Amino acid sequence: MVSFTTSLLTSIPLVASVASAFSAPAAHYGNYSIVNGFFKQSDNSTDPKTFDYKENLGLQDNLTWSEFKDQIDDLNANADLRVDYKVFFFARHAEGYHNVAQDYYGDDAWNCYYSLIYGNGTSEWGPDAYLTEKGEAAAVNNSKLIKSLIADEFPLPQAFYSSPFTRAADTLVLTWKDLVLDTGYASPIFKESLRETIGLHTCDQRRSKAYLSARYPQFQFEHGFITAETDLLWTKDEQETDEGKFYRARSFLDDVFASDDSTIVSVTAHSGIIAGLLSAVGHRKFSLATGAIIPVVVKRESRVDFVPVQQDFSVTIGPSSTAPTCATAISSTIPSDIAYSTTSVNEAKSVLTVTTVVSATATSN
Ligand SMILES: *[C@@H]1O[C@H](CO)[C@@H](O)[C@H](O)[C@H]1NC(C)=O
Ligand SMILES: *[C@@H]1O[C@H](CO)[C@@H](O)[C@H](O)[C@H]1NC(C)=O
Ligand SMILES: *[C@@H]1O[C@H](CO)[C@@H](O)[C@H](O)[C@H]1NC(C)=O
Ligand SMILES: *[C@@H]1O[C@H](CO)[C@@H](O)[C@H](O)[C@H]1NC(C)=O
Ligand SMILES: *[C@@H]1O[C@H](CO)[C@@H](O)[C@H](O)[C@H]1NC(C)=O
Repeated sequence: MVSFTTSLLTSIPLVASVASAFSAPAAHYGNYSIVNGFFKQSDNSTDPKTFDYKENLGLQDNLTWSEFKDQIDDLNANADLRVDYKVFFFARHAEGYHNVAQDYYGDDAWNCYYSLIYGNGTSEWGPDAYLTEKGEAAAVNNSKLIKSLIADEFPLPQAFYSSPFTRAADTLVLTWKDLVLDTGYASPIFKESLRETIGLHTCDQRRSKAYLSARYPQFQFEHGFITAETDLLWTKDEQETDEGKFYRARSFLDDVFASDDSTIVSVTAHSGIIAGLLSAVGHRKFSLATGAIIPVVVKRESRVDFVPVQQDFSVTIGPSSTAPTCATAISSTIPSDIAYSTTSVNEAKSVLTVTTVVSATATSN
């Protein structure tokens, strides 16, 4: 195995008025790809719309969990020095109040108006929308599902990472509480890089570290987790692009592969960032329903010849990738006295500068 001494320092200051196009770092210290043959979700012939994760989490019919675990161990044991395999359980949070509101108002009115306000008087979805009762019940059902698989030697994840949003952390708690949290088996870690698409939608505005720390005493925070009372990364006028999410997802993967020896890793997050993670590992597009969990097998080939450099790259946030042209979307459901203007969204130019300092020393032993 190649052992890495890695210090990965990611700072994400918001720098206003530096308009520049998206530019990717030229070099990278590893490649990610998907290993097919284990899960139906990774198979092109599986239709995501009819796929039901509750059927054994998509494990191929010709495998038991025990055989699966053995095959992953074999892959790692026989791998080239530069190669590692991990299994990620990507879990989308269960139903939140923002999901209900989006269904109720429809995508256009939601993206154009309702997602930008905090609630409608009877229902609140921002900041940081909570799970609905139905969402909580779905997460409890997932817990029963996992327990039913344990009898078949289901490999319990060894590490748990969570988005710093209550709908994700609550889903994690309700799914894994008695198996993992109450037993002291593992302590989940909050990662800023697992939050949902940054900006515009109030449901994606984060609560403070103090709030999360009081609500989730069994969780840890990643080193450097932003402690400010307000969410410094979220702005009401701009939204992170898909490219921004791709690089954020890859920074999460780089971090986990460099710092965590676990082979089986649970990630509880959101549809947008999970799409970014799937894209970053080369998985086909696969949308998850609320509460869905999909395991994927990821191979990483590290570059022994990679010369660490200070990488500075900019990710332009905005114009919104989801806000529609409101002129056509505005309907009678949207109060006419609201002076919401799309131009303010589309012309907003500020840049999220991500400075990644990577230093990796590869030594064969
Ligand atoms: C199990 O089935 C999958 C999907 O049909 C296939 O890709 C894989 O090769 C099979 N594995 C074995 C060991 O037969
Ligand atoms: C799935 O489809 C993609 C694109 O069409 C192709 O590149 C890939 O090899 C396919 N994967 C499998 C396992 O057939
Ligand atoms: C607020 O939205 C919820 C759906 O999220 C809906 O059930 C409720 O009727 C709405 N309330 C008002 C006052 O429109
Ligand atoms: C939870 O499982 C029960 C029993 O299978 C089912 O009746 C219920 O609809 C499920 N609830 C959710 C929210 O999925
Ligand atoms: C990563 O992928 C690129 C493009 O497929 C390839 O040129 C490069 O050699 C790969 N690097 C490693 C370390 O596998």
